Order: sequence, then C-alpha cells, then structure tokens
Amino acid sequence: MNDLREKLRETTDFLRSRGVTEPEVGIVLGTGLNDYVDRLEDAICIPYNEIPNFTSGKVDSHRGLLAYGTHQGKKIIVMAGRYHYYECRDMDVTAFPARVMVALGIRRLIITNAAGCVNRGFRAGQLMLISDHINLSGKNPLMGPNLDEFGPRFPDMTYTYDANLRDELRSRAAVEGIDLAEGVYCMFTGPSFETPAEIRMARTIGADAVGMSSVPEAIIANQAGCEIIGISFLSNMAAGVLDKPLTGEEVTEASKLIQNDFARVVDLAIQI
Ligand code: HPA
Repeated sequence: MNDLREKLRETTDFLRSRGVTEPEVGIVLGTGLNDYVDRLEDAICIPYNEIPNFTSGKVDSHRGLLAYGTHQGKKIIVMAGRYHYYECRDMDVTAFPARVMVALGIRRLIITNAAGCVNRGFRAGQLMLISDHINLSGKNPLMGPNLDEFGPRFPDMTYTYDANLRDELRSRAAVEGIDLAEGVYCMFTGPSFETPAEIRMARTIGADAVGMSSVPEAIIANQAGCEIIGISFLSNMAAGVLDKPLTGEEVTEASKLIQNDFARVVDLAIQI
C-alpha cells in the first residue's frame, strides 16, 4: 500500500464527511459474529466497496460494511467483516480498518474472532477472553516506515489486553451466568487449518486458542495506546484434539448458537 498516511487521510476525510465523526469505541466482528452490528441505534452503514482504500481485499462475511451509531450511550464504530491476511497477502490492507478507527480517535477496541480450542480444559461453544497473543504469522503490521503520530517505533506489548478490564468483564459476565474462559490466542496465517502437530506445538508454547486474525488489529491499537478487549468464540476443538476433520462451515454453524451470549459480553465490554 503506497503512502499509508495519505490513504488514511483520504479514508478518514471520507468517513467524516459521511458523519462518522467521534467514535469512542471500535468493534471488529469476527466470522459468524456479524449480527451484532444490528444493535447500533441510528446507524450510518457504509459498504466497504464505497469506502476509499477499503476495496483492495476480499472480506469473509456477507456484511462487509462499516457502521457508526450509538449503543448504551457510547458512539461506536463497527467493522462487520475483516480483511484476512490469508486473503490479501498484505499486512497494510489487513490492518487498515484498525488504523482508520485509531485515526478517527477510538479509545477502546473490542476485537472478536472465531477460534479453534487448543486448551483441553476449555470446550467448543465457549467464549474466551484473550489475555495475550502469540504472533505466528511471520509478519507485523508495523513493519515499514513508522507513522510517529500513531505511536512509537518499538511499542511495548506487555499490557496489550488490559487485565483490569478482563477481571471486570469476567465478573460482570458471571453475574449473568456467562462463563468466560481466559487464555492466549495464537495467530497462524491460514487459510488451511492447522495440522495436529502444529496444534501440539501451539499448546506447548502456551496457546489456548488458534485463529487466523486479530493479532494485526491488536498490534495497531496497542501502539496507539487504546484499551483492547479480545473475545474469541471457541467454535471447534482444534485439529487433532478430536478424531475428526475440520470445516469452515462448522465454524459458522457453531457461531449461531452463541449469538446471545456473545452480544451480551460485547455489550458489557462497551459498558465497563
Ligand atoms: N483454526 C484456525 N482458525 C479457526 C479455527 C481453527 O481451528 N476455528 C475457527 N477459526
């Protein structure tokens, strides 16, 4: 992506001209979790293919739109559908929506995804708060010239997923009968699912869940000093945990069963 700064200016100017003015909270919705976008009130919805510089990748969801509206008294920007690195082969494209949300001034980013469950103590169908991540993509979205106005060249990653917010979210969810697991998310590039040997490796190095996204957005938002809450929907036991093959359809099918709890947890993640 040539001249990222120029592209960001063009995109944010366009979005402001369409009324996306002062978002406080950003949300990225993962595979099968896009329906949350319908919770926004008075939403301005803009399909990605109308947004300058959003057209260079393919999105995985039927939505593929940016929505801006209010919910629970907060101004919220929602990305319904994301650009995966495995699709566009370009980290600048993958992380661009997160950069745009940061440039528009969000202070908190809620990142969601579907993930494979590596930890045998957790179960498929559960929601997991991300406490930390391992980046096995081999790439970092901050590679290339640093945009100093976004943050430092070498950002610290120690407190990426705010521990106080996690504690608060877990206890608030527990009051509502929602049991949130908590663990480390490991990003592989995909699009093939991992092999059983890769899942054993992931477990050995400390992963509780595996997926093909989210880490680029977290790195971008963390550099800019945003609070980050990561929520994984553990849609399936990861490869080799059960003696059966994995399919993409299984992931989207499973997500249908969790919509209510997922929406409730995202609501809480906005409130706390
Ligand atoms: N692996 C990687 N990504 C995923 C998985 C998985 O098992 N499930 C949902 N997204």
